[in-house]
Amino acid sequence: MVDDLFEKELQERRIFKNISILSPHYVPVELPHRENEIRDLTRIVATVLRNEKPNNVFIYGKTGTGKTVSVKYVLKKLEEFVQNPKKNSNKVIVRVVYMNCKIRNSKYQILLKILESETLNTKELKSTPLSNRSDKGLKGMDPADLYERLLKVIQDNGLNIIVVLDEIDMITKGMNDVVYLLTRINDEINSGSLSIIGLSNDIRFKKRLDPRSKSTLCEEERLFRPYNAMELKSILKQRVAAGFQKRTIDDSAISRIAAFAAQDGDARYALKLLQKAGEIAQDSGRERVDDGDVGEAKNAVEKDIMAEAISTLPEHQQIVMYSIAALASQGGIYKRLSRVRNGDLFSGEVYEAYESNCNSLNRSPRTMRQFSDYLNELEMLGMITLRASGKGVRGTTRLIRLGYPPREIKSIIRDSLGLGSTTS
Ligand SMILES: Nc1ncnc2c1ncn2[C@@H]1O[C@H](COP(=O)(O)OP(=O)(O)OP(=O)(O)O)[C@@H](O)[C@H]1O
Ligand SMILES: [Mg+2]
Repeated sequence: MVDDLFEKELQERRIFKNISILSPHYVPVELPHRENEIRDLTRIVATVLRNEKPNNVFIYGKTGTGKTVSVKYVLKKLEEFVQNPKKNSNKVIVRVVYMNCKIRNSKYQILLKILESETLNTKELKSTPLSNRSDKGLKGMDPADLYERLLKVIQDNGLNIIVVLDEIDMITKGMNDVVYLLTRINDEINSGSLSIIGLSNDIRFKKRLDPRSKSTLCEEERLFRPYNAMELKSILKQRVAAGFQKRTIDDSAISRIAAFAAQDGDARYALKLLQKAGEIAQDSGRERVDDGDVGEAKNAVEKDIMAEAISTLPEHQQIVMYSIAALASQGGIYKRLSRVRNGDLFSGEVYEAYESNCNSLNRSPRTMRQFSDYLNELEMLGMITLRASGKGVRGTTRLIRLGYPPREIKSIIRDSLGLGSTTS
């Protein structure tokens, strides 16, 4: 038994040298193909070293284009710089607070996160948010009190705070309020500053800001382009060099990963494929990752991505997806109609299945109209495709086609909704 364990462990190290290098949290020493973006960001935030407020920055770009990693990279360098007494000749006090707005999605949460952050509660500061022993801490305070506390800490210390609001589009309530409030601080203090770096992969996000917040947040605005296949290849090679054993992956396999990921220009997807392909080769006891492993990795990763996307859908959309998958796996009731491509479903029949699934789940079905909106949203997420049905089939009926294998979708949703296998 013990022998086997060690044997397995040794085998595992045949492919990977250091698997943590492939993790999404790892910040590489260099970021190929983001040199210009990094220089540019450095120039913007370097203003703080003259004790001036850096412009706020809004960075947008598709998923996996290196927004988060580039910002973290530059701010880490900034922190290192100011911590070095030889370099920081102006003795500027800079604090970086990073947060993801998927988790911190309200004004209150965001203020709390800033005040509670470790970097704002260090001994070197004259006053800190949590040092006020006379009160019960920050928990019971409302946003107005938190704001006052932040103001005081900045003022007392001449603090320059850079707040990173990653996935800023995920702020659910009072987005304009947050931007307005945080930047207003600068008008009320005579020493220190607060600036914002907002990141988003939602191109429509800017439209949701009112003109004032927009011009405030977007003092600087940058677009991160998707990576092309060549760029992805060098990003991959960097990770292979650090994370894989020597000569354990074919060059053609790396090219294949880069080509797949170049469809969306997504480095995260490329790295996921790389890791998965390595694991597949390793699990089958081979010493080298080849093209075949990459193909297999693609299927596996797509399934994971789909499972995650489906399980985060609101309940009724999951029921709609389930109904589509259940009908699709029967081949479609209307298969016999020659007009309809095999596998296409009528929206009417899906609505009926949805109603009946809601009933068996003890949920009240939403109206046809809402159902129709759900279909549009599912299409936007790339889970289904919709076509208007040809004339003469049925009035406003639409034809629905599933983007993924129905059996897998059914099993994912069954788990996610806690369904038994009795529901049709
Ligand atoms: N130029 C690069 N060099 C090396 N690794 C990179 C580069 N760009 C991105 N990566 C890696 O790709 C992954 C995705 O990058 P990142 O998280 O920065 O994307 P993002 O633009 O923030 O995406 P999202 O909008 O989904 O949050 C991370 O693991 C990151 O380390
Ligand atoms: Mg990101």
